[in-house]
Amino acid sequence: MPTANPYPSPQSKSVASQADRHVCILGLGYVGLPLGAALAQSGLTVYGVEIMASRAADIADGKPHIVEPHLPEMLKNVLEKKQFIVSTKIPAPCPATIFIVTVGTPINEDQRCRLDMIKDVMHEIAEVLKDGDLVILRSTLKLGSTRSICIPILDRTGKDYDIAFCPERIIEGNAIKELHELPQIIGGSSVRAAARAAKLFSRLTPKIVTVSSIETAEIIKLIDNITRDIHFAISNEFGMLCEHLGLNSHEVFEAAQDGYKRTKIPKVGLVGGPCLSKDSYLLQDSFEDLALAPQIPKVARVINEGLPLHGANTIHKFAQKLPSFSNRPVLAVLGAAFKGQPETGDIRSSMTGPVVEHLRRLFNFSETRGFDPMVTLQDMESLRLNKMESLEEALQNADIVVIANNLTEIAQFPLDQMSRLMRAPGIIYDFWPQHRSAPEPTVPGVHYLAFGNGANQSGTP
Ligand SMILES: NC(=O)c1ccc[n+]([C@@H]2O[C@H](COP(=O)([O-])OP(=O)(O)OC[C@H]3O[C@@H](n4cnc5c(N)ncnc54)[C@H](O)[C@@H]3O)[C@@H](O)[C@H]2O)c1
Repeated sequence: MPTANPYPSPQSKSVASQADRHVCILGLGYVGLPLGAALAQSGLTVYGVEIMASRAADIADGKPHIVEPHLPEMLKNVLEKKQFIVSTKIPAPCPATIFIVTVGTPINEDQRCRLDMIKDVMHEIAEVLKDGDLVILRSTLKLGSTRSICIPILDRTGKDYDIAFCPERIIEGNAIKELHELPQIIGGSSVRAAARAAKLFSRLTPKIVTVSSIETAEIIKLIDNITRDIHFAISNEFGMLCEHLGLNSHEVFEAAQDGYKRTKIPKVGLVGGPCLSKDSYLLQDSFEDLALAPQIPKVARVINEGLPLHGANTIHKFAQKLPSFSNRPVLAVLGAAFKGQPETGDIRSSMTGPVVEHLRRLFNFSETRGFDPMVTLQDMESLRLNKMESLEEALQNADIVVIANNLTEIAQFPLDQMSRLMRAPGIIYDFWPQHRSAPEPTVPGVHYLAFGNGANQSGTP
């Protein structure tokens, strides 16, 4: 049964000023689609532009391609009311006076920021730009790109326009809630630009934080994500050190923080996803030509990106010591999205990919299976995993089980039951051990190894 929508259309706002009542959002992905639906729900008319025709058609049909609580009902509602109009190109003429850019800014193989999509979209906006329009950049950018890339393209139109950088800081899987709760950072080209952007976002969120420049807003976005990446890296590094010493990092972190607020350390685990995996590189790219090269973000990436190999090597070494371990083992990977909580189906920069690749180099698998109900068959196949419909099916006669994300269904599955379904001798390797309160498996020959816990990895199996 659909849950009640806690973010209904505000009645009072529907009679607000007629200015800036038509918004065009370019890029209906994880950022653009929830934002577009939420702004439409707030009473504005939103023109959502999505270049991928199949994606645009699905959205127009009320079928979001992303997993976000409340989004399906919200989308259905605004589509029915014709407050959210989807197309593959900006309508011409375009009634919107605000253009919001939410296209992707991935990195390329050299770990430099790809700005081609931003440039393309700027040219598309330039074609329809009118005097008085406001352009809002919401994609995460290499520092200075608003001024060095976007403004010159728009300036060539000769139009008198406003521009602002207003970063998106939602977490995937909780976007609609956070859009209505998180403070919105705003950096405008002028007081008027910032005020217009503030007015727009105050339709959604109660707290607006206006900063003095576009660049201030740009760096805040990077600092937010990179700080998170660094925190996870600290935890993972300490996890590895504890493991090496035969200690349980979970116990160490819990005790260290028990009643002692000055130590703040997150739990160990794989760090992936489209943002944390790239934003440190955007920062490094931003300083490439300067003498100042940020060091801590770089080191944090090395640590977090090293986890899949560390786990794969640990499994391999342990398997080599197991008498009669299968030479054509079956691998079952539990969790393919880059995280399990909040739930998402997003496999972009999920560490499951590197985990599977490292293991494939070390073992001659007879089968590689994956279980993640949030992830599509196609995405599962792109990770070279056969999609299993149930945990039980994935575990049946598996020799190696890797817990690769913290999806509740996986975290709560009892280890004992898991080990009974597997083949013995077998290995369960858990990258997310903190989610498991159950005791270790009691089936003889099935071994539970947890990242960051040397206590259950020491000695001969
Ligand atoms: N995913 C997140 O949780 C998140 C959070 C904060 C910030 N960001 C940043 O927001 C930006 C968008 O991220 P995302 O995850 O939504 O990416 P995404 O790939 O899910 O969505 C971008 C969409 O833009 C479309 N697109 C590309 N060029 C277009 C064009 N010219 N016209 C219309 N549509 C076009 C793509 O087809 C795609 O559907 C990135 O810069 C990202 O770093 C993402």
